[in-house]
Amino acid sequence: MQARTPKPVGKDGGMSMSGADARHEGFVTTSARGLRHDVPPMRLYHKAKRFGVWDPQAIDLSRDREDWAEFNDQQRDALLRMVSLFQAGEESVTLDLLPLMMVIAREGRLEEEMYLTTFLWEEAKHTEFFRRFLDEVAGTTTDLHHYHTPSYKKIFYEELPRAMNRLLTDPSPAAQAEAAVTYNLIVEGVLAETGYYAFYQTLHRQGRMPGLIEGIRNLQRDESRHIAYGVFLLSRLVAQDDSVWFVIERRLNELLPYALGVTHEIYAAYGDDRPFDVDQEEFVNYAIKQFTLRSQRIEQARGKSLDEVYRLATVDADEPAGEDEPGTPGEGGTAA
Ligand SMILES: [Fe+2]
Ligand SMILES: [Fe+2]
Repeated sequence: MQARTPKPVGKDGGMSMSGADARHEGFVTTSARGLRHDVPPMRLYHKAKRFGVWDPQAIDLSRDREDWAEFNDQQRDALLRMVSLFQAGEESVTLDLLPLMMVIAREGRLEEEMYLTTFLWEEAKHTEFFRRFLDEVAGTTTDLHHYHTPSYKKIFYEELPRAMNRLLTDPSPAAQAEAAVTYNLIVEGVLAETGYYAFYQTLHRQGRMPGLIEGIRNLQRDESRHIAYGVFLLSRLVAQDDSVWFVIERRLNELLPYALGVTHEIYAAYGDDRPFDVDQEEFVNYAIKQFTLRSQRIEQARGKSLDEVYRLATVDADEPAGEDEPGTPGEGGTAA
């Protein structure tokens, strides 16, 4: 079915909003419009119900504990470093998503908000999964903040919370675009995906840590839906106002050096003595490729009608889920 642009607000639904005076003007689900199952966010919502239901507690980590016992100190250090970056990253995306959900809800975009409920739940499970690994495989009881290098801190301690929380006072399209670029394109699209790729190229290639890899496979599947939503949101904003494209471009260029800096800083920690024998250039190229594909995808929305943007995003939302190997671009809007 062809996706048509849903009417987000109006007499059927939507809200007048100013503090204590907030009131609903009506509800889309009790109007003739009803719920739109054919639009991209609802397709992602239905997909999340099918593929996003894995339980971090159910993954078998017994082989991982055996592998951990066999690793040398440097390998354990490298793994703890990577997991600590993911752990804090997942915590921060769990904490910082709510302002965007609030903006979407206030605009009366019910289908988008319904999808975002699955998004937030999935981030919570990712946070749970990495902490389970630290507790039950690594047996970590020490503080891990020293693994957070300057580029990492710039993104997760400053830029992400600032861009997301700005939405509480400034819900403008430009502010939404800055938030989605930071969250969906840089943190999820470049950093997380490159990280999954790293785990896959090292541990999975060597047949190590099968439980961790299983969790990461699930995580990557969830993240590909998150990124698909981000690409859809940014495309919608660009189609509604072309000047938003320049905000996106500027923000991407501003943050990309820090995203690449995270990889450089991981390598710098080990010098020539690499614990898992992996090629830095391979990761940087992967990160740049992911970044370029997504930004080209969003640029396609320039000059397009909203109906066309919904149609393009429907193709992304309908890409097969669940079969991707970690490290393979999934349904994150990478199909040109
Ligand atoms: Fe996540
Ligand atoms: Fe995510």
